[in-house]
Amino acid sequence: KVLDIDPNAASKGTYEHYMLKEIDEQPGVMRHISQTYLDDAGNPKVDSKIVDAVAKADRLYIFAAGTSYHAGLVGKALFEHYTGIPTEVGYASEAGYHFPMMSKNPFFIFLTQSGETADSRVVLKETNKRGIPSLTMTNVEGSTLSREATYTMLLGAGPEIAVASTKAYTAQVAVQAVLAKALGEKLGVKEAQEWNLHHDLAIAAEGIQQLVDGKEKLKEIADKYLIKSRNAFYIGRGIDHAVALEAALKLKEVSYIQTEGFAAAELKHGTISLIENGTPVIALINDPVTAELTRGNIQEVVSRGANIVTIVSKEFANSSDDIVLPEINYYMSALLTVIPTQLLAYYASRDKGLDVDKPRNLAKSVTVE
Ligand code: G6P
Repeated sequence: KVLDIDPNAASKGTYEHYMLKEIDEQPGVMRHISQTYLDDAGNPKVDSKIVDAVAKADRLYIFAAGTSYHAGLVGKALFEHYTGIPTEVGYASEAGYHFPMMSKNPFFIFLTQSGETADSRVVLKETNKRGIPSLTMTNVEGSTLSREATYTMLLGAGPEIAVASTKAYTAQVAVQAVLAKALGEKLGVKEAQEWNLHHDLAIAAEGIQQLVDGKEKLKEIADKYLIKSRNAFYIGRGIDHAVALEAALKLKEVSYIQTEGFAAAELKHGTISLIENGTPVIALINDPVTAELTRGNIQEVVSRGANIVTIVSKEFANSSDDIVLPEINYYMSALLTVIPTQLLAYYASRDKGLDVDKPRNLAKSVTVE
């Protein structure tokens, strides 16, 4: 058990909506994960049975749905960098009936806030049938996917009530980081041995706090550029591309603004034809290797009339950038980049007068295929 549930955790308290409350809780979630999964010296405290089992794998397969799938895309970057194990990420809904080709020693990781998603359960059933070892990372102790997988790691994000997932996403990124660290150390990977994850999670907690404290700026941007718009785009490269996909899902699901996330340079291979005067394009820039190239992609859309909003790491920021993110290890940057995008989605929905916590047609946990 990783979390003593606060009896008030499932109440809205003074908040107008659960979504904003849950966004605001993320610094605490980061601290909680740090305390649960790292000792005072910063060494990972992960069940050695889990680490031993995953260390035997020649390939990791991550399956999930929705926001959890997007957390898996960030996990891929973490696992490959810190453990050297090739990692695939797939939609559970696709893998259930088109099972991926297996390496010799596969290990499956299921990411699921609720632990009940039907699409993921189908994949896990087949995984068990084939005798493949598995781990469920979930927020709900005793949930079906937790019971049916070989191992479980709890997210400890506390109850998430808003349909749109926020704190479970950052918790999934952080818990995958913990596993990557433990695994990389076990495998003797230099990048993992030299990685101060304790420090990075502390920086993440402080950085998220700073960003949520500056939420008024995101409300202004949402009101100015988003609420009257029918469509919008997020662009980014590397981990920023993974975050762009999650940011787009968040905005569209709660505000009903049709939003797409793109690998920044892919826009020009077709979708740029949709850019008109006033189309909002939100650019994410944290990747040291491609920061300048993304600036080039921004110019391409600006010259076609786009209203550009930039969310940029302090390292690469200039005075005209809209949101400057505190500096953090690039591999952990999703934890900060996603926060302004959650707030933009929240304010776009709220200021359009929509049902923020229960968008139409959506359910918190989808138990049908
Ligand atoms: C539903 C929710 C999403 C969630 C997805 C996967 O569609 O509305 O917010 O990301 O299911 O849920 P899980 O519980 O498996 O993470």
